[in-house]
Amino acid sequence: MRFSCGPGGKTERVAEPGVEAFEKLVALLNYPMFVVTTRAGGIAAGCLVGFASQASIHPPRFLVGLSTRNHTFRVAAGATHLAVHVFDRKHLDVVELFGSQTGDKINKFDRCSWHSGPEQMPILDDAAAWFVGTILDRFALGDHVGHLLAPVAGRPPHELESWVSFCDVRHLEPGHEA
Ligand SMILES: Cc1cc2nc3c(=O)[nH]c(=O)nc-3n(C[C@H](O)[C@H](O)[C@H](O)COP(=O)(O)O)c2cc1C
Repeated sequence: MRFSCGPGGKTERVAEPGVEAFEKLVALLNYPMFVVTTRAGGIAAGCLVGFASQASIHPPRFLVGLSTRNHTFRVAAGATHLAVHVFDRKHLDVVELFGSQTGDKINKFDRCSWHSGPEQMPILDDAAAWFVGTILDRFALGDHVGHLLAPVAGRPPHELESWVSFCDVRHLEPGHEA
């Protein structure tokens, strides 16, 4: 971030050229979206996550970035596992619930169908596919914390043609600011 002198002598923030290019590039990417849930101390939590990706093949590893502002992040701090769900667009309502509401104000699990799955993780019944991973490591990424997962259980998709991606949810106002 740079600062420059704006009208009336006011100091203005100006994005570095590299940052501006980066922001324009990532705004165009249509990456997959996930709903990540967890449970600790009897409290279930979950939110919509775009910052997530497979990170290794052998051994299988997956990285989930959770915003430090989110209720889910705070519950995950005391958890041993996360559950990562992929949704078909026909269940966009559940995806929107987890991205636009916060567990600080409502119980999202009262508003959707779920069951307790492997390692007591809350599994969302409308998901097209999911896996549960052990949290092997946590590390700071910036305003998000990376959670490195090793898969321990899951349900693979039968078919997944119209999975929810960034373009389907970019209009949402997040329950917590990023
Ligand atoms: C398009 C989009 C992408 C998001 N990506 C992430 C993400 O990668 N990580 C994250 O922690 N929150 C992400 N969020 C924000 C949370 O899903 C949102 O603030 C949620 O309401 C937080 O719920 P919680 O406070 O119950 O955890 C995203 C939201 C949207 C709309």
